[in-house]
Parts: sequence; C-alpha cells; structure tokens
Amino acid sequence: MFLLAIESSCDETSAAVCVNGKIQSNVVATQLVHEQYGGVVPELASRAHQQRIVPVVERALSEANIQKNALNAVAFTRGPGLLGSLLVGASFAKALALALDIPLIEVHHMQAHVLAHFIEPPVPEFPFLCLTVSGGHTQIVLVRDPADMEIIGQTQDDAVGEAFDKTAKLLGLPYPGGPLIDRYARQGNPEAFRFPEVEMPGLDFSFSGIKTAFLYFLRDQTRQNPDFIEQNLPDICAGIQKTLVGILLTKLRKAARQTGIREVALAGGVSANSGLRTALTEMGQKEGWNVYIPRFEYCTDNAAMIAMAAHFKYLKGEFTSQEVSPLPRW
Ligand code: KG4
Ligand code: ZN
Repeated sequence: MFLLAIESSCDETSAAVCVNGKIQSNVVATQLVHEQYGGVVPELASRAHQQRIVPVVERALSEANIQKNALNAVAFTRGPGLLGSLLVGASFAKALALALDIPLIEVHHMQAHVLAHFIEPPVPEFPFLCLTVSGGHTQIVLVRDPADMEIIGQTQDDAVGEAFDKTAKLLGLPYPGGPLIDRYARQGNPEAFRFPEVEMPGLDFSFSGIKTAFLYFLRDQTRQNPDFIEQNLPDICAGIQKTLVGILLTKLRKAARQTGIREVALAGGVSANSGLRTALTEMGQKEGWNVYIPRFEYCTDNAAMIAMAAHFKYLKGEFTSQEVSPLPRW
C-alpha cells in the first residue's frame, strides 16, 4: 500500500511516502522568512507553502522511487494549525486524490505527533502516556490505541515552546529561540538564577506567569547593570530551561503515578531540548518507566508522522470526503 502524506499546518512544508507502514521518504522544507519578524507570519507562511508544495511532493515521490500513479491514498493535516497554511495542504491533497481517483485521509496534527513513535522501533506498548510539547501545545495524552487518545492535562495559557521562544525574544535572541536557549544553557549554571513555578491544579500547566516574572526579573537586573544579559546569558538560559523542564516533568510524574502507567513517551518540537531529554531519562530510571523519545527529525513538524497516522486509518478504511475543509482549532 503506497501512501503520500502532506503536512502544512504551520511553517514547515513537508511530504512523506509510506509503503505498508514503512516510511520511504520524508522531505521537510523549513520557511526561514519568519526569522526576521520574530515569529510565524500566517500570510507569508501560506504563500511559502503554495510555492513549495509541488517541489516538496515531487522530491518525496522521487526519493521513495514511486510514481504518482502507484499511490493508493493521499493524507493531509486537517488541523489544528494556521488556516491559510492548512488550506494549501488540504487543497493539494484533495486535488491529487480526485485526479488519481484514490481515497483521501484527514489527520489530526497532535495525534500524528503521538503516532510518530510508531515510525521505527522501539515502539511503546499500549496504554502509554505521551508528553506532547510544541510551539502550539503542551499536553499529557493517555494513549489507549492509535484511535483512542485522551488529553488528561494541558496548558491553560501559553505552550511551553512559546515560553521558550518568548523568553528568548526578551533576551534578544532570534526566532525560534528555543534551540538557542538550549545551546546556551549547556554552558550555564542552572542554579545561578531561579524563577518561580506557578502551581496549577490537577495535571494542567501554566506558562504565562513565568514569562511575566522573567520580564520583571530582566527589567530589574538590567536597570542595575545594563550589560546583565550579555554577561550572564548561559546562566540565565540554564535557569529558565531548568524551570520549564521542571514544570513539565513534575506533572508528567504526577500523571504516571495517578494512572499507574510506566510506558512514557515524548513528542513535539520541544522534545529536541537536551535538558528535557536528559531529565526525562533520569526521571524514567528513578520511577521505573520505559521512556521513548523519537529521533529529532520525527519530533518537529514532519509528514512522516502524518503518514503513520494515516496508515492506521487506511487499515480501518477511515476515509474523508471531498467536502472536507481544514479545522484550525480542531
Ligand atoms: O512541533 P514543532 O516543530 O512545531 C509546532 O507544531 O509548534 O515545535 C516548535 C517549537 C518551537 O517553539 C521551538 O522553539 C521549540 O519547538 N524547540 C525547542 C528546541 N527545538 C525546538 N525548544 C527548546 N529547546 C530546543 N532544543
Ligand atoms: Zn507540531
């Protein structure tokens, strides 16, 4: 079974080919145009998707050594995401499915992040917990099977990726700042500066308070010493990273203890963070968990995870009609 999947929910145009559940190609074109604006500009994102989608799909097919006519299904991200961006992927997928007279499969972007764990071994056993952390989401998902997922905890305000990016912006770092905080933090002392954690009930998260506390902290420090940031960047980054990772893992441990589940997985762009990877691995050893962290290229937005999610749907015959439209807030 030959399947083409398309991901265009935010600022990555991606296409992947999967044959009987095995990924044969995964092409990702990242849009660099947003860097100068300090965040994703939706209008520019949809235009860039429009320009890239054809070459990206062509490359995915040629890397997999497959002709369009051989395809058995076309999958696309229906949401959540930016409307203009989603429309490009959805329209392309619909047109291709119609032209080739093959089924169309809609995929939920966040479910696909979770199902990225099935791209290659080691694969978690059901039921498992998945901490899904990206620029748009922060969730603890209880995964009973590929089609049965329950969000048991989530952020009530900013996503953790946003918290990384916004604090980086306050430090004068370019977008997306998450990877830069990670890089500086490696040379810093995480105990040099401490930031308050906001207590949230149950398994939910909150990150907006820490961003505000950080803003005031920087304002006070730079008032006394205008070169404060420049002189302390690694320590500041290490402190903020430790705080954000701490908030995530405290709730994840609570979720694992509450549910009694010891299969624990990490998904989404922020799972690239080295501090989070190390701390999760250590916590897993202490708590007796089996920890699963996908390869970096399958953590950030990519079409291979869309293909994987679509593969499960194909097996169950879950297809979508041509009437379908994107769901930005799905
Ligand atoms: O899943 P993703 O690629 O896109 C969304 O669906 O949002 O996640 C992107 C987010 C951005 O906020 C980016 O700063 C963050 O992941 N990120 C990181 C790291 N690499 C990417 N945050 C912290 N440390 C990293 N190494
Ligand atoms: Zn994502």
